[in-house]
Amino acid sequence: MQFKVSTEPIISLATDCMIITYTEDRDRLRGLAEQVDEKLDHRISQLIAEREIKGEFGEVTIVHTWGKIPAKRVLVLGLGKEEKLTLEKARAAFAIATRKAKSIGIKELTFAITQKYKDIWNPVDLGQVVVEAMMLGAYEYSPYKKKEKTEHKIERAIVAVDGISLSAVEAGIERGHIFAEAQNLARDLTNTPANRMTPAILAEKAKEIARKHQMEIEILEKDQLEELNMGAFLGVAQGSNEPPKMIILKYLGAPDCKDAIGFIGKGITFDSGGIQLKPEKDLDEMKGDMAGAAVVLAAMNAIGTLKPHVNVIAVIPACENMVSGHAIHPGDVVDTFSGKTVEIKHTDAEGRLILADAISYAKYLGATKLVDVATLTGSVISALGYSITGLFTNNEEWKKEVFAAAKIAGEKVWELPLDDDYEELVKSDIADLKNDAGFGAGAIQGAMFLKQFAEDTPWVHLDIAGTADTKETKGIHAKGATGAMVRTLISIAIRFGGK
Ligand code: BES
Ligand code: MN
Ligand code: ZN
Repeated sequence: MQFKVSTEPIISLATDCMIITYTEDRDRLRGLAEQVDEKLDHRISQLIAEREIKGEFGEVTIVHTWGKIPAKRVLVLGLGKEEKLTLEKARAAFAIATRKAKSIGIKELTFAITQKYKDIWNPVDLGQVVVEAMMLGAYEYSPYKKKEKTEHKIERAIVAVDGISLSAVEAGIERGHIFAEAQNLARDLTNTPANRMTPAILAEKAKEIARKHQMEIEILEKDQLEELNMGAFLGVAQGSNEPPKMIILKYLGAPDCKDAIGFIGKGITFDSGGIQLKPEKDLDEMKGDMAGAAVVLAAMNAIGTLKPHVNVIAVIPACENMVSGHAIHPGDVVDTFSGKTVEIKHTDAEGRLILADAISYAKYLGATKLVDVATLTGSVISALGYSITGLFTNNEEWKKEVFAAAKIAGEKVWELPLDDDYEELVKSDIADLKNDAGFGAGAIQGAMFLKQFAEDTPWVHLDIAGTADTKETKGIHAKGATGAMVRTLISIAIRFGGK
């Protein structure tokens, strides 16, 4: 999708389709919508009077203009109730409009940013949100459809600007492009089937990103992991024929600064559950158990382009969790890089095991503030469902930073508690720690386990098990991987780097 900014008078813009918006509780059209309506002999107001257009959130009505204005069609987009309208909702509505336009074969879509938005939102955010919406809304994953591939593709997106700072909108567009491209990259990586997204392939993807941005990269192989005593990571990996890879990517944008953010992403390229095998239903979805890794890699790609004044160290433990003659047994005890020993109470609680070694290693490499992203527990879905990411922390200040970044990025997070009371859930009878305590507070158990490895380093854990993919196409998301938290991670780096 190519983006073009136009400052022509919007009403006389020749385009395939122009989006105009309408809110539910308005008595009449305003601004550009009103101008268009007049030129169309009030056909839109007629549709409103007949209640065919209500302005409900995400409502799309396509009206042909029959030569009355140079735009061939107008897409009337409902934004819902005005007092409930947020940038986040606007992003979702614009994405819905884009998806609809794409589905009917529209090749060129114009979105007008006019004076009327200026009073509520700043032009940089507006430019960013419009582009994000268009790119995220047009996303589709069908690389293996050889025969029935849909032909539809929006080739050009035009952002028409009127009565609002052009340079600000352009800055927003540039940023939106980088953010949405990263999120779509995370979606692609996550949607890729496990046979085509092995730990080795994931490591190759990381190398490509490193090469593109001249970042340092290191891939730790099995023998190196053994030397480092990463028994938790190796224990999970040992049931698979695919060798594990610890992927380390460094972006050093502030070499003079001792601080570094550590982004750690769970990279289980397939989670069968191990010996404590998962039930067969929806097991294919466990190809997406590397969503955290995908989010971190995609964010690094964007950070490489944006070049904020900050150091970021990404650590991605990548392996499969499989069943075989050499798979780890329930009851086994493994060593970790930290020196702490862990009793394996459940082979399906593998994410926290590989992250334990990765978190310790990120600290060892010099990360002073940590964020891990992981499809860690089914339990977070019981707690928060599918639209809000679970957040856990050991540090109030760092948590506030992450919350602020998520808010700016327009992604939802909600904190769950990590009180000391829960500490007993990770204590083992025969080792320092255990990876499962049975029923109750499952998401907290996972986080509490990770906390033992973050120790005193400020750390935030994002459990994206509910938000990493979606079963229905809705708002900015198409069925499948969402790329949730990519925009938040990029925002964290930008905020930290003061850019
Ligand atoms: N990858 C799963 C968590 C998951 C579940 C992600 C559903 C996405 C959708 C994780 O490795 C897992 O299996 N967690 C178990 C832990 C339990 C056995 C202690 C869980 O949450 O059920
Ligand atoms: Mn598991
Ligand atoms: Zn898992």
